[in-house]
Parts: sequence; C-alpha cells; structure tokens
Amino acid sequence: MKKRATLLFLFLCLMSIASAQNRATVTINADKGQYEISRHIYGHFSEPLGHCIYDGRFVGENSNIPNTGGVRNDIIDALKSIKIPNLRWPGGCFADEYHWMDGIGPKESRKKMVNTSWGGVVEDNSFGTHEFMNLCEVLETEPYVCGNVGSGTVEEMAKWVEYMTMDGESPMAKLRRENGRDKPWKLQFFGVGNENWGCGGSMTAQYYTDLYRRYQTFVKNYGDNRILKIAGGPSSGDTHWMDVLMKGTDNGQRWGVSLHHYTVADWGKKGSATEFDEWEYFKILHLAYYMDELIKEHSAVMDKYDPEKKTALAVDEWGNWYEVEPGTNPGFLYQQNTLRDAITAAVTLNIFNNHADRVRMANIAQIVNVLQALFLTEGEKMILTPTFHIFDMYKVHHDATLLPVDVNCMKYELNHSQVEQLSVSSSRDKNGVIHISIVNVDPTKTVDLSCVVNGVKVSKVVESSVITASTLNTYNSFDNPGVIKKESFKDAKLKGGELTVTLPAKSIVTISLR
Ligand code: AHR
Repeated sequence: MKKRATLLFLFLCLMSIASAQNRATVTINADKGQYEISRHIYGHFSEPLGHCIYDGRFVGENSNIPNTGGVRNDIIDALKSIKIPNLRWPGGCFADEYHWMDGIGPKESRKKMVNTSWGGVVEDNSFGTHEFMNLCEVLETEPYVCGNVGSGTVEEMAKWVEYMTMDGESPMAKLRRENGRDKPWKLQFFGVGNENWGCGGSMTAQYYTDLYRRYQTFVKNYGDNRILKIAGGPSSGDTHWMDVLMKGTDNGQRWGVSLHHYTVADWGKKGSATEFDEWEYFKILHLAYYMDELIKEHSAVMDKYDPEKKTALAVDEWGNWYEVEPGTNPGFLYQQNTLRDAITAAVTLNIFNNHADRVRMANIAQIVNVLQALFLTEGEKMILTPTFHIFDMYKVHHDATLLPVDVNCMKYELNHSQVEQLSVSSSRDKNGVIHISIVNVDPTKTVDLSCVVNGVKVSKVVESSVITASTLNTYNSFDNPGVIKKESFKDAKLKGGELTVTLPAKSIVTISLR
C-alpha cells in the first residue's frame, strides 16, 4: 500500500510540475491505531500575570459583567464549548513565590503581596484556592495546581494538598470548612515546582532532583483522591536536566515530567504579533515544527529509564511569544493573535497528537490576555482569537485513538530553507468517526490532496471545517471580532473510498469521515 501511495505521489509530483499545481497524498492507517490521544494535550494555563486573571477572566462578584463567582460568563461558556480538559494555576514563575495561605479566608483580610515576577504590581490575593477550585468545578475541568518549591517549605506544600483534598477530621480540613467549603475538591494533577532551573530557584538538575524526591513524598493521597505528580522538567533542549531527573527518580514518584518551550524568533528581538513579513512568518513556523525534534530528543532520554513509557511528557507551557503590543506594560506580556498563530497552534497540536505515546499533557500559555491567548478582553468586550478556534476545531481528537498517517507532500521553501507544506494528524473517536486535521502552511499555494483510509471503509464526509483568512496577519479585533472563525468547508469530496480535498493556501482544515 505504501509503495502504491509513493508511486501515486511521484505521478502527482510530475503532474504538479507540468501544471504548476501542488499536489499531495495522505494515507490514514486506520488498522494501526495503538495509542489514545489524551484530552489533556488540550490543556490551558493561567497565572496572575498582567490581565490574565484580574481584569481578564476574573472581574469580581460585584462586576456589571455577567459572572459566576467573579469569573466572566462569556469566557466560562466558551471554555465549556471547547471542553477544556484541565487548567494549570497559579504559575508559572508566580507559583514559586506564592504562599497559598495568603489567598484563603475573608477577602478583605487577605494579605497583599508584590508580584515580583510580573510587573511588580500588588497582588491582593482575591483570586485564591477557593476561587480557582470552584471555577474548575464550574468548568467541569481538572485543576492542575503547581506547588512552591523555590521559596516554599515541604510543610506548606503538604498542608495545601491536605486543605484541598482531605475529607473527615484534620487541621487543614477544619480550616477549609471554616472558610466555607465542606467537602474536599477533586485534585488530579499537582506540579512540584515550576522552572526550578530559572525563576523557580536557579537550581542545578541534581539539586532539584533531590528536592523533588523529598517534596513529592509529602504530596499525599487523602480518601479516594489520587494525585498525579508532575516533576519540573527542562527548558527546551536541555536533555541533561531530563537525564538527571529521570535517572534520580522512579515511575512511582512521578506521573509526568514537564517541558517548557516557547516559540520565539529571538529573545532580544521577538518581533511584532501583527506586523511581520513572510520571512518572519517562516521563522516562527520553522520553530513550531522544531517541537517535533524536541519531543523526540526528550523521549529518547526518557526511554532509557522508562522504556514502557509510563511517565508522561507534559509540555505544560508552550506557544508563540512576541513583543508586547505598543503602549502596554512590558511585564504584562499582552499580544494580539493572528492567522499565523492559528497555523502554528494547529501544527503543534498535530505534533502532540502524533506523539500520543509519550505526550499526555500540554498547556498553551496563557488563557486570557497573555502570550498566545484564546481570549482578549477590554472592559465588557471579549474576543475569541484564531487560536481559540483551533482548539474548537481540534476537540474532536480528545481521547480518540491516534491513527498513524503517511504524508507525501511538497516543501514550502523560503530563502533556501524549507518545511513540510502539510502538517497532518488523524484519529478515530469512540463512535468510530475518523477525523483528519491538515494544515497547509504555504501562504500562496493551494494543494490538491488525495487521501485514502487503510483498514476501514469510509463512505461519507460527516463534517468538515476550515480556518483561513486573506492575509497571514489577519486578526480579530474588538471592533471587528468575527474576521477569523471556524467555517464550514465545501472542498472535501469522497468517491470510491478516495477523499479529494482542495486545501486553500494558509489554511487549517478538519474533515470527519464515517
Ligand atoms: O508564561 C509566562 C512565563 O513563562 C511563566 O510564568 C514561566 O513559567 C515561563 O518562563
């Protein structure tokens, strides 16, 4: 079959040259599904940073903006519509300077602190443990709480877990009840520190590994609650950190190891979110594709100590990072979001899907008004960014079985550099529907795609949708919020088991087949 597909592709390439058209073939191996794509790959992250929480999703109970427990209802509804699987909090760098006891009890008596990580602003602790855990219940999402290793004690971390999850009699359960919550919350994911090689304590790999062993011992399971512990892993390509951490801990001590990787053109000159030329687009795209290399490199190290892949790789911070919007606080990391971001989000999610054997959690940074956000707010107004629409489009892959794909496509080339023109992933959901997500990253060329499914007979296109725009830097603004959104796609036809698709330039398409 592979041979046939290759011959077909060679033939199509010759046709392409003759007709100056771009063509491609994809084979979906529906008979080779082995791994489940964890819905937790589609996780989110929020930190008291700029207007992510305050004046972002959290407006307070007394706001005129409709809210539930102080959180904007429009954002709650939108997050429910994309089936948000988990939400990470309170950081980020902030997590390692956060002392949770400052954020419980009557709001007027909560201790104020200086947020030294982000803009030196006063943090009044009005959004604390109760507000976060209650929000997760409203959203029907799993909370992912990150504990303080950098400046906190083992006792403080142990008591936090007891406070959140202990039923029955205990000092922390009593305190929680005094603060108005009788039953414990369910807490599945707990991170033991954040970026402890940097803002989380400037530690060496060995020092953190030793601390991790100690701290995680006191992250206990109370009653039926079962915590999945996530060790603070490396930054980008630091395989040494991964090696030391994996070697110094065992599968019983960690459910996952985190990896942080942001897509940045150059830390000294990050470039504008909205004003960029084709070469700047290409560079960000190239860096987004690099996530695949990164996962392979870290997986190879993890395989040495955990060949059965019991430990998850949790890419719990990722996304595009540009200069802040002109005139905004540099410590608040506020940036717009264009079709370029939708394309790189889709490429990255395809990479995560295709590494479902090892990557079982990921969190884009951050949910509202910070970096590659899903939502931007301005007073009462709220807009859904192009990245939001990708998460909406890709929710079909949650907990579906990954179907490996063989892709034959041309390259998108610029200045003697190249990337694959198409990025693809496919899955089969619990109802037997096959979904294929395809990104045509080429900004000018349409691609005629021929796709076959091995192992099952498909006879119907159930649904298909597209996200695209006239230019790469098109974005949704407060005056014009609906420029980019998910739209119905008409150019997918199924005949005799062969799916033919005309993929517009710079587009993301998802097709569902039965
Ligand atoms: O997401 C912004 C920051 O980036 C996080 O606080 C930190 O963990 C990372 O360096």
